[in-house]
Amino acid sequence: MMTTPNNQITMSIRSSGLRGEIRCPGDKSISHRALIFGGLAVGPTTIEGLLEGEDVLNTVKALEALGVSIEWPDQLDGNGVWTIHGRGVGGLAEPETALDMGNSGTGARLLLGVLASHPLSAVVTGDASLSRRPMERVTAPLSRMGAKFECRGAGLMPIMVIGTGDPIPLIYESPVASAQVKSAILLAGLHARGSTTVIEPAPTRDHTERMLRHFGAKVETMPVKENAAASSVTVTGLPELSGQRVAVPGDPSSAAFLVVAALITEGSDIILKNVGLNPLRTGLFSTLQEMGADITITNTREEAGEPVGDLQVRSSQLRGISVPAERAPSMIDEYPILAVAAAYADGDTRMDGLSELRVKETDRLAAIADGLAACGVEAFIESDALIVKGRNGQVPGNAVVAVHLDHRIAMSFLVLGIAAEKPVSVDDDQAIATSYPDFISHMSAIGATLIKADRTDVDVNT
Ligand code: S3P
Repeated sequence: MMTTPNNQITMSIRSSGLRGEIRCPGDKSISHRALIFGGLAVGPTTIEGLLEGEDVLNTVKALEALGVSIEWPDQLDGNGVWTIHGRGVGGLAEPETALDMGNSGTGARLLLGVLASHPLSAVVTGDASLSRRPMERVTAPLSRMGAKFECRGAGLMPIMVIGTGDPIPLIYESPVASAQVKSAILLAGLHARGSTTVIEPAPTRDHTERMLRHFGAKVETMPVKENAAASSVTVTGLPELSGQRVAVPGDPSSAAFLVVAALITEGSDIILKNVGLNPLRTGLFSTLQEMGADITITNTREEAGEPVGDLQVRSSQLRGISVPAERAPSMIDEYPILAVAAAYADGDTRMDGLSELRVKETDRLAAIADGLAACGVEAFIESDALIVKGRNGQVPGNAVVAVHLDHRIAMSFLVLGIAAEKPVSVDDDQAIATSYPDFISHMSAIGATLIKADRTDVDVNT
């Protein structure tokens, strides 16, 4: 991990006229899955555009500890090719050391699904943030498939998994709309004799389903008769997954920060190349367009079963809107940056259905409201809704925002600072490396001013 001396913090300063073209970093969700499916396939899988952030590198190391041979590129500059020599479904080896998933809920939960369906014992750990996040949502259904778990407290990490080599196929109705839960169960179902079905209360990102098909598995998605909002996904167990070429599209959740940066700074006009446009991920872009954002999508195409395109974004006068709860699964990681856009909008923005934000890398609902308040923006939490009182372009800033080990909180408030009246700092920029190691250099490349400042020189008013 890149380290910042303790007395240094990162500060963003009012900027204007952002210009240029940026190639988005690889999608985090798809990167984890490409590695894991490569590890479960027979024959080599090559991955281009892998996100080389810390979360994904922890999945690489965990797979290596499980006996998967992985050829790393010579340089971690995002341009290299990774080659995974998989061991086949059910073929992973017992690890000799604990598997440290760092900050990554996706890495941890998907891996728990894989470990649960192998005849091995393993310990899974993570950082302070991950150790506070609920794992029971995956350990409960995976226990029904025959795995055993010893957790700290009520379903917290570290977790000891005692997997089974003969998992029982399951039909599981998930109480939460979570792609991580769905994926953990489908991954365990790969090694079961029969079909495993997950019924989700609302459709969530379907990268697992798309990539399983790409690797040769049979996956069916169907509407649920009794509940129009729900959908069911079934995987047929014991497929022969064969190694594939995967070109990872850019991450719309990372692009989101540059999109909002361009929208809120005067005179901006930027192009973001190679952005993943899976419709179950693009809720933020349509929400911003509803708010009046000038975003044009061009050059749409398909890569490894995923829609991809380029975005042109120009500064725009945004207006507050109401964002319905049903949209939350398609933009679940984007509420911190949407709240920043809302702070610059004319009028109030209300976002409903945000209970899942309480269990992300930090309690994001509280972190957003506290950060906005520190920057002079009124925001209220009403049950699971967030209301931001837009300041029509006049955001005071002048704060040091607490990040709580959350990369998206750090990036969101650095973006807020580039159009604020006074600079905004974040108390820790190291978390950014988990998902977007090039964030600061990409922001600088399009003309945003982000600097390292001495903590003692900053007027800390939070
Ligand atoms: C992810 C799913 C989402 C999202 C996370 C990545 C995935 O979590 O917040 O960043 O790759 O499956 P939930 O499935 O828990 O909502």
